Amino acid sequence: MKVTVVGAGAVGASCAEYIAIKNFASEVVVLDIKEGFAEGKAMDLMQTASLNGFDTKITGITNDYSKTAGSDVAIITSGIPRKPGMTREELIGINAGIVKTVSSNLLEHSPNVILIVVSNPMDTMTYLVHKTTGLPKNRIIGMGGALDSARFKYRLAEALEAPISDVDGMVIGGHSDTGMVPLTAHATRNSIKVSEFLSEERLAQVSEDTKVGGATLTKLLGTSAWYAPGAAVSSMVQAIACDQKKMFPCSAFLEGEYGLNDICIGVPVLLGKNGIEKIVKIELAEAEKAKMKESAEGVRKTNSLLTL
Ligand SMILES: NC(=O)c1ccc[n+]([C@@H]2O[C@H](COP(=O)([O-])OP(=O)(O)OC[C@H]3O[C@@H](n4cnc5c(N)ncnc54)[C@H](O)[C@@H]3O)[C@@H](O)[C@H]2O)c1
Repeated sequence: MKVTVVGAGAVGASCAEYIAIKNFASEVVVLDIKEGFAEGKAMDLMQTASLNGFDTKITGITNDYSKTAGSDVAIITSGIPRKPGMTREELIGINAGIVKTVSSNLLEHSPNVILIVVSNPMDTMTYLVHKTTGLPKNRIIGMGGALDSARFKYRLAEALEAPISDVDGMVIGGHSDTGMVPLTAHATRNSIKVSEFLSEERLAQVSEDTKVGGATLTKLLGTSAWYAPGAAVSSMVQAIACDQKKMFPCSAFLEGEYGLNDICIGVPVLLGKNGIEKIVKIELAEAEKAKMKESAEGVRKTNSLLTL
């Protein structure tokens, strides 16, 4: 499997590193617009190969898409990240132009590629790729829910004072501070609902901490996070590479599912060799349905800022 990562910044490099360490891809090409930057990141990462025990070949290139030819999966991380106090939605002006050009360049050299969109505001960038590339919907996947769910599990484990491996949970909805819908009623510790162990107030706090998970890190780091985003992307790419049919909440183009149409938003999907193999429909509680509807309204508001 050949994987291209566009953007050799914090998130792009972390994606390349985790994909290589997991050793399922033969080749990872990292591309950036900044002269020599991707080459430098790739060389540094390749010098970890003997230490970390992987055989994936990582190469870096400056803006030459011919070197990405024949990619099976491409990850779009190019664009600006937010600074403390900013929302993801504020990035739309610059990132929309970048994502549009990058996806068209990728497809020119890899017509069969599966695209994973990471750049923010991610649901709107995923929608933009749908509207501008005409690719079938199974081949355009937005990464947000996999990361938000990892943050949810971290917060649940913290509240339960339990190891994270005891905990399961999922976040659907828009990838924004107000749009995320942590499914607290479905979350479990060793198959027991977490509501058996945590008060309603504590669970509400877990939800809030999850929703501002990105903003909390941006405030601490001065830029947005990269380790967990890279790990989330690498798990999704592995599910595709190994045809795992593994379930992740991903931003997918909806045509009636969850009562929504003509929108990309986080819902549970199965990832396998064809990208999105299936959108999984689960029964939501009334409160969760209302939150999902509200979340979709927020995503549509950001989508309306696009010039398609
Ligand atoms: N979806 C998520 O869960 C999630 C999580 C974290 C970050 N993000 C988003 O990912 C994006 C990248 O974040 P980062 O922290 O890696 O930023 P960064 O600034 O560290 O890296 C971005 C890289 O993109 C490159 N770039 C810019 N324009 C380009 C172009 N036209 N072609 C190729 N490369 C180009 C830049 O040179 C830079 O190296 C941001 O939009 C951020 O908000 C999304």
